[in-house]
This record gives sequence, structure tokens and C-alpha cells, in this order.
Amino acid sequence: MENTMKNYEDVDSWKTIMFLYNSALKEVGTKLEILNDEFQHVHKYNPIEHIKTRIKTPESIVKKLRRYGYEISIENMVKYINDIAGVRLICSFTSDIYRLAEMIGNQSDLKVLSIKDYIKNPKPSGYRSLHLIVQVPIFLQNEKKMVNVEVQFRTIAMDFWASLEHQLKYKPSAAITPEISEQLRECAEKIAETDLQMQSIYMQINDLE
Ligand code: GTP
Ligand code: MG
Repeated sequence: MENTMKNYEDVDSWKTIMFLYNSALKEVGTKLEILNDEFQHVHKYNPIEHIKTRIKTPESIVKKLRRYGYEISIENMVKYINDIAGVRLICSFTSDIYRLAEMIGNQSDLKVLSIKDYIKNPKPSGYRSLHLIVQVPIFLQNEKKMVNVEVQFRTIAMDFWASLEHQLKYKPSAAITPEISEQLRECAEKIAETDLQMQSIYMQINDLE
């Protein structure tokens, strides 16, 4: 991305934009930590196992713009790529995912732009997670900027599958045959079943419905 910039002005706006995305990550990360702390304070329970944040690398921004068929420019990047700033939230149980997502949706300064529920509708690969694109305001000295952040909610079990599947698939030498894909999908099904059982045990112990 940096190499495609023609002049100092571009480099300047690249830096400003990356500063905005980093600020947005901090904002959303803090909001989630506060929700987690409040849960701990009120219910003596942490719904969030851990939070990971990342900024997309310039290489994968360029790759994605090419894949979408757009010219490589900062303007197109901001317009068409929603996951430049990404937060991954690893929760204990599926119920925590929906609870937290709802709480995020109810925060008046955040706007949920889209929801993809790959828990209710898993991807053909077997992938499960809840994805939200949220827009967060960043208050600068003289203006307010709205910045998009992708939030991926997963249980520990969903994350276990996604991490290993990613590791297996993205090895340069990996030969992913349809049989291998089927085996990975089967693993995802088994893990989802166990997740469901864990959720049921949790509900029984806590006398919930
Ligand atoms: P991308 O170009 O991949 O970002 O696709 P998209 O913009 O249509 O978004 P999508 O809803 O497919 O979610 C993209 C993100 O979800 C990826 O960056 C991964 O983090 C994750 N993801 C989606 N599908 C899979 C999958 O089959 N396996 C794994 N391990 N992760 C996945
Ligand atoms: Mg992505």
C-alpha cells in the first residue's frame, strides 16, 4: 500500500487513517472490557475469556481490493474494506456472545452497520462466529470521524476450530482436497455439539432456561 502512494500527501493521509483505525480499536476494546468488568462486578462472572485486536496489514488490504476488483487507493480502502480494524472476542458460552452483541448494539454512540450470524448459519467450511461491523465515533481536536470496526464473537470452542483450520489451510504447501474439507467440516460439527452440551450444563448449574 505504501508503495502505491504517489506523493507525500498520500503518505500523510495513510498515517492519519491508520491513526483513526487504531483509535477505533482502542475505543471498542475499552467498551468491551468495561462490559466484562461490569459483569464481574454484578454477577461475579467473566463472559469474555480474552480480546484480541489487529489492524489489517497493507499487503492484505491490497490483496482484498484486488480481489474485489477495485483500484488500489486509500479512498477505496476506506470505502470498501470494513475489517481494517478488527476485534476478536473469545467468550465462554454461546449465550455470552448474543448477550454482549446486544449490549454493544444498545450503546447509543455505536452504530451496528451489519450482522453476519455464522453461528445460526455456519459457513460451508464449518466456520462459526458472529460478525458485527460497528461504526464508532472518534473525537479529534476539531472534528468527529466515524470509523468502522469488525467485531468477531466466538466461543473458545469456535476459536479452537477456526485457529487450527486457518493454520492448516494457509500453509503454502497445504493440499486441501474435498475429503480434507469434509473432515474439517465434521470436526466443526462435533465441536459445535460439545459447545451446545457445555452451554446446557452451564444452564443447568445456574438454574437458567
Ligand atoms: P473476507 O474477505 O475473508 O474478510 O470475507 P468477507 O468480507 O466476506 O467476510 P466474512 O464474513 O467471510 O468473514 C471474514 C473473516 O471471518 C475472515 O477474515 C476470517 O477471520 C473469518 N473467516 C471466515 N470464514 C472462515 C473460515 O472458513 N475459516 C476460518 N478459519 N476463518 C474464517
Ligand atoms: Mg476479513
